[in-house]
Amino acid sequence: MRRYLRVVVLCLACGFCSLLYAFSQLAVSLEEGAGGGGGKPQAAAASWLAGGGRGAGRGAGSAGPAAHPGRSDRYSLKMQPVERVHLAVVACGERLEETLTMLKSALIFSIKPLQFHIFAEDQLHDSFKGILNSWSFLQTFNYSLYPITFPSENAAEWKKLFKPCASQRLFLPLILKEVDSLLYVDTDILFLRPVDDIWSLLKKFNSTQIAAMAPEHEEPRIGWYNRFARHPYYGKTGVNSGVMLMNMTRMRRKYFKNDMTTVRLRWGDILMPLLKKYKLNITWGDQDLLNIIFFHNPESLFVFPCQWNYRPDHCIYGSNCQEAEEEGIFILHGNRGVYHDDKQPAFRAIYEALRNCSFEDDNIHSLLKPLELELQKTVHTYCGKIYKIFIKQLTKSIQDRYDRPPKER
Ligand SMILES: *[C@@H]1O[C@H](CO)[C@@H](O)[C@H](O)[C@H]1NC(C)=O
Ligand SMILES: *[C@@H]1O[C@H](CO)[C@@H](O)[C@H](O)[C@H]1NC(C)=O
Ligand SMILES: *[C@@H]1O[C@H](CO)[C@@H](O)[C@H](O)[C@H]1NC(C)=O
Ligand SMILES: *[C@@H]1O[C@H](CO)[C@@H](O)[C@H](O)[C@H]1NC(C)=O
Ligand SMILES: *[C@@H]1O[C@H](CO)[C@@H](O)[C@H](O)[C@H]1NC(C)=O
Repeated sequence: MRRYLRVVVLCLACGFCSLLYAFSQLAVSLEEGAGGGGGKPQAAAASWLAGGGRGAGRGAGSAGPAAHPGRSDRYSLKMQPVERVHLAVVACGERLEETLTMLKSALIFSIKPLQFHIFAEDQLHDSFKGILNSWSFLQTFNYSLYPITFPSENAAEWKKLFKPCASQRLFLPLILKEVDSLLYVDTDILFLRPVDDIWSLLKKFNSTQIAAMAPEHEEPRIGWYNRFARHPYYGKTGVNSGVMLMNMTRMRRKYFKNDMTTVRLRWGDILMPLLKKYKLNITWGDQDLLNIIFFHNPESLFVFPCQWNYRPDHCIYGSNCQEAEEEGIFILHGNRGVYHDDKQPAFRAIYEALRNCSFEDDNIHSLLKPLELELQKTVHTYCGKIYKIFIKQLTKSIQDRYDRPPKER
């Protein structure tokens, strides 16, 4: 009888244990399903690349943050297709190093696999290939290189009217026909948060919104459009197109109101008449055309706050991007060449730190101390005054991405 009782107790204990185990497994898989842990997306990225990527350096990487040998097998069994984040950039002239630094910042902080669409002048293609292939050990991205192209009917006219590279981004919805959504950024962008964060704004679009941008200015007294523009522009101060999130499926479907005809026009049909009408009045090229389009179709634009497109304008006349002060700077935009001259040493220091660092976890950590010292030297400048916000943001992003216990990564 007593032995019988013992067996029963033992069985109960075993049952309880396996129940506990089952729950813990459930918790783990729920967490992964929510994309909370860095581990799953990275592991998923490995098999994602194996099925179509450029595997040049596969398996080489015990060095990369994404390398977790043996984990992909375990996860591939229950893997769902991972949503790809599409990032596009247009690089011409001397912008090779700047573009690569932008792509590197995207890779350092992002969680989901990235697909880069790089539009570049032909003479830059070999250099892009060389460097990007040397990064393939990361296994978290793949890329396509394209020449600068225009719709064939009007190619000559577009090339003549604009610097060839400047208007390329307007045509992305027509060139990348298979891509649903895209984040376009200028070459002088640096990500200080995962690209996943801005990508998730796509899901916040209401039914009429097709694209998202930040205001050109926070402070109308120093705004450009409201003081100088000789054409319509969006909102109070216009929008800046350096960081532009697009649902291109919707852009291709929409019929746009305009001031040229009484009928609404598709994206592919509106650009040329718009350019013809306004070519003598526009200053900032394609950004002006975007402002005109969204002036007439304001319900189609999602405006995100300045911290997603943080420029020297937000700090040189005093700090006027309140969201950045409260929540951090998510995307830095060093326009007017500030990464390369001495006008905004704070922007330059961040650019150089990211340009110099390599992908090893240790290197990414050790970027902070010297950068902080460097930034302290800029405290006499307006943008340097807020250097602590830069450091706080980078520290947080690095912690979020690299300082989880290895188990969670
Ligand atoms: C990148 O990966 C995706 C998914 O496997 C694939 O559809 C795409 O063709 C790849 N692109 C390149 C340039 O390899
Ligand atoms: C261009 O600017 C001039 C001068 O401000 C203005 O008279 C004209 O109406 C503008 N053209 C268009 C198409 O808005
Ligand atoms: C873009 O819009 C289309 C059509 O409304 C929708 O099916 C798709 O899910 C949207 N894409 C994203 C990433 O939200
Ligand atoms: C979507 O949001 C924009 C901007 O707030 C607004 O103008 C538009 O009316 C909204 N569309 C719908 C269908 O609510
Ligand atoms: C980056 O490297 C250059 C030389 O390669 C050096 O002059 C510069 O001080 C470094 N900057 C930072 C912030 O590490």
